[in-house]
Amino acid sequence: MPKRSQELVSIAGFTHDFANFLSRTYHNYLGALIFQQLFANDFSPRELAIIMQAIANHDKYEMKFSNSVSAIVVLADKSDVHRSRVTIKDMKKIKADIHGRVNYATKSSRLGINKRSKRITLSLKIDTNFVPLMEYFEIFTGRMVYCRKAASYLGYKFGLVVNSIKLL
Ligand SMILES: [Fe+2]
Repeated sequence: MPKRSQELVSIAGFTHDFANFLSRTYHNYLGALIFQQLFANDFSPRELAIIMQAIANHDKYEMKFSNSVSAIVVLADKSDVHRSRVTIKDMKKIKADIHGRVNYATKSSRLGINKRSKRITLSLKIDTNFVPLMEYFEIFTGRMVYCRKAASYLGYKFGLVVNSIKLL
């Protein structure tokens, strides 16, 4: 995609969750509106709309993509699982929460794009001694559906490989 569109993806990716400080509920819509209030003078109306759409759309129950910026933000957001996401140090607290367990157990996470075969593949290495694989699917199945929709919008198939086993 053009360099400017790549920048719009970066900006939307960087800001997409920033309304969580207000409320987790509706943070996607609130985030889009806050972005408009803060940065309306820094973008053309078209670019502003693209970023606002990407932020508003990233956490909707029914995602409907209207541009590739939005689809890429969803792919990046919903495939983001890794030990580095866990910021708390207390192992008891990490183990007490399923998101903490799954993120902590993910030792490696890579989103690969193969232009020739038109496949976007999320490859994970999960420590199954720390967390059973089923727990990953308990919280990430919905996210994988979003990734598949986003990849499909971009003209790609979505694949999932966990511990070298091709699951999708
Ligand atoms: Fe979010």
